Amino acid sequence: MTKRVYNFNPGPSTLPLDVLKKLQADLLNFENTGMSIMEISHRSPEYDKVHNDAIALAKELMGLDDTYKVLFVGGGASTQFAYIPMNFLHKGKVGAYVDTGTWSTKAIKEAQNFGEVHLAGSSKDDGFTFIPRPEEIQFPNDAAYLHITTNNTIKGTQYHFVPETGTVPLIADMSSDILSHQIDFSKFSMIYAGAQKNLGPSGVTMIVMKENILDTIVDGIPTMIDYRTHATKNSLFNTAPTLPIYIVKLVLEWIKDVGGLSAVETINRAKKDIVYGLIDDYPDYFRAPVRKDSRSWMNLVFRLPSEELEQKLIAEATSAGFIGLKGHRSVGGIRVSLYNAMTLEGAEKVAEFIMNFRKNN
Ligand SMILES: Cc1ncc(COP(=O)(O)O)c(C=O)c1O
Repeated sequence: MTKRVYNFNPGPSTLPLDVLKKLQADLLNFENTGMSIMEISHRSPEYDKVHNDAIALAKELMGLDDTYKVLFVGGGASTQFAYIPMNFLHKGKVGAYVDTGTWSTKAIKEAQNFGEVHLAGSSKDDGFTFIPRPEEIQFPNDAAYLHITTNNTIKGTQYHFVPETGTVPLIADMSSDILSHQIDFSKFSMIYAGAQKNLGPSGVTMIVMKENILDTIVDGIPTMIDYRTHATKNSLFNTAPTLPIYIVKLVLEWIKDVGGLSAVETINRAKKDIVYGLIDDYPDYFRAPVRKDSRSWMNLVFRLPSEELEQKLIAEATSAGFIGLKGHRSVGGIRVSLYNAMTLEGAEKVAEFIMNFRKNN
């Protein structure tokens, strides 16, 4: 048996073991081609099936109909920070953004290079420790779009509601919570996510786009940046990142096999309850900075009584086979990332480890 650790890395992060095994089994001779998936053409029938299956599965799991397109592009989620205003931020309009820290701050900064930004809400003054409440999110009703970051990987906050935007298109960076729970995806005009947390490996970004938003794209932008290029060519205008897309397909199949988003949500709820339960049981020892209504199910952040103890916990956890518990360097502390592929057993084991650490320290 190959050694595997409990991997709590924030991204790239743990993948389902079944997916890795399938990948390994298929590697040398994919679908009887005598080649690996990496060595066949992105225009071959074998790859075509992988590509279209991944798209169909994503739509099925999200409950979306044919008014939505699923795109696969390179460049990471960060590239979308610029592509969104380049495509949708017309002169005379504003791009509305909710600032919930690091990644949304970066998205805002990038949009300011292309047009006018309206700050629709922010938790900056409180160290990004909460998600603004629905009534605190305000924007003009002719805004080009409202952009939110549904899960804030570094600050450990997550939206537990979908903002109502009327006729203003809602755009979301779902990089770190996509397909982790049930949500009405049809409320969004565009969703994007770097694959490397809940969808697969790094190297591909999945975009889900309502077709009608394509009609509003600014003309005259470079071909590869114009979403219409990828939408009309089924993400095969140029060489697609075939291996990452193949692995995304395997992950989507795994989600379906587990029982779809309702089953995934049940497991994710149990996982986060175990860890937050422990934190809440000992408020004199653990300090959770995030407001309770905004707590992330994916990235659980907390502090110990001192930085020395935090370093000690991280070191002892690593030796014990619990990897990736160090909070982001910008915030410090402990971060337990419980993405879809982390098992319930993993959450139980890490909670037990943290509980024993508290007893001994
Ligand atoms: C919420 C969120 N958005 C965007 C990014 C940036 O993604 P990428 O590295 O794919 O550009 C990250 C990376 O961790 C993230 O967590």
